[in-house]
Amino acid sequence: MKRLKKIVKWTGINLLILVVVIAAVTGMRQNLHFDAPYPNIKASADSAIIARGRHLVFGAAHCINCHNANNPDSLAALGLDVPLSGAVKFELPVGDIYSKNITPDRETGIGKFTDGEIARVLRYGVHPDGKPVFDFMPFHDMSDEDLTAVISYLRAQKPVYNRVPENDPNIIGNLVIAYLVKPVGPSGPVPASVKKDSTAAYGQYLVNSIAECNGCHTQRDLSGAYVGEPFAGGGKFEEKGVVFYPPNITTDSSSRIFGWQEADFINRFRMGKLIPQSPMPWNAYKTMDDVELKAIYRYLKTIKPAKAPVFDQQLAEK
Ligand code: HEC
Ligand code: HEC
Repeated sequence: MKRLKKIVKWTGINLLILVVVIAAVTGMRQNLHFDAPYPNIKASADSAIIARGRHLVFGAAHCINCHNANNPDSLAALGLDVPLSGAVKFELPVGDIYSKNITPDRETGIGKFTDGEIARVLRYGVHPDGKPVFDFMPFHDMSDEDLTAVISYLRAQKPVYNRVPENDPNIIGNLVIAYLVKPVGPSGPVPASVKKDSTAAYGQYLVNSIAECNGCHTQRDLSGAYVGEPFAGGGKFEEKGVVFYPPNITTDSSSRIFGWQEADFINRFRMGKLIPQSPMPWNAYKTMDDVELKAIYRYLKTIKPAKAPVFDQQLAEK
């Protein structure tokens, strides 16, 4: 008995030491800094380049949906120059993460960052201060030409003073920051430019490197890693009390878009948001032009057929 007590006591002390050590190391690792190259991108004052950037920011890339906290998808439908002043709060299992003010305000926005620093955040996922970015944005493989256009538009906006709260990770978030969050970079050499035409090749680029359709329409695990069949349907969204499962958009006969012709697909996008609570940024996507929508349709037609995953909740709801 005595021996057992002793073992228990020592195990207890060891555990306590372990917890204290993990807590200390986790604390120290909250400020890990990473290195990544600064892309050779320079903002331009050319009005055609700025217009191209604006088209992406309010359209396929839907920056507006995450970088404006004032019902942005409705504002997107109006086609106004809505300020990208940030502070959208994402309540995640890791805690509260806030999108940033990306207007040129020097104090609270990106006014003080160099073009290289902004390009590095988007391509390599490293903030100007060296901290890794929570991987919300899919632009790692965006071409030099498009990244230049986007940053040129960001620079051309009116500065808006809006101080965004600091991210507020919980205990899980602190562990994730200490041991898991690493900057995400390009999947290969980044193209200087990608020819815009209505081919599936351009659609693939738009879908995966700009519009991030897969981000919702493919099943992911808690860390955000893709675990499901590509485009066969994604995990649960709960928006204002309404539950959504992003549907299958592969070529399978059970796909939502099975039997849709190109014109049907384009018409559906032109309609914008039909279910008001839907998390899909329809009203930004709605501003994509016919070439972009055709390219996306043609790319989706190349996706191999797959059945949608069945989630526990869906089974329970049946
Ligand atoms: C799905 C949501 C989402 C979309 C779409 C999105 N962002 Fe972000 N962005 C975020 C979040 C969240 C952060 C903060 C991440 C963090 O704190 O690690 C962020 C951070 C940034 C930063 C870093 C700013 C800083 O202070 O370090 C820049 C620059 C940026 N976004 C630009 C853009 C641009 C440009 C677009 C469109 C081309 C865009 N974002 C689209 C959610 C998004
Ligand atoms: C933020 C998550 C999200 C993103 C990003 C997203 N979707 Fe969706 N999508 C949904 C949800 C949820 C639904 C179901 C609700 C609805 O129809 O609005 C949906 C529905 C659809 C539908 C069926 C519409 C209908 O009327 O039956 C199509 C087609 C579609 N998405 C295609 C796309 C394409 C293509 C992209 C990229 C350009 C994309 N989605 C990006 C979440 C998303």
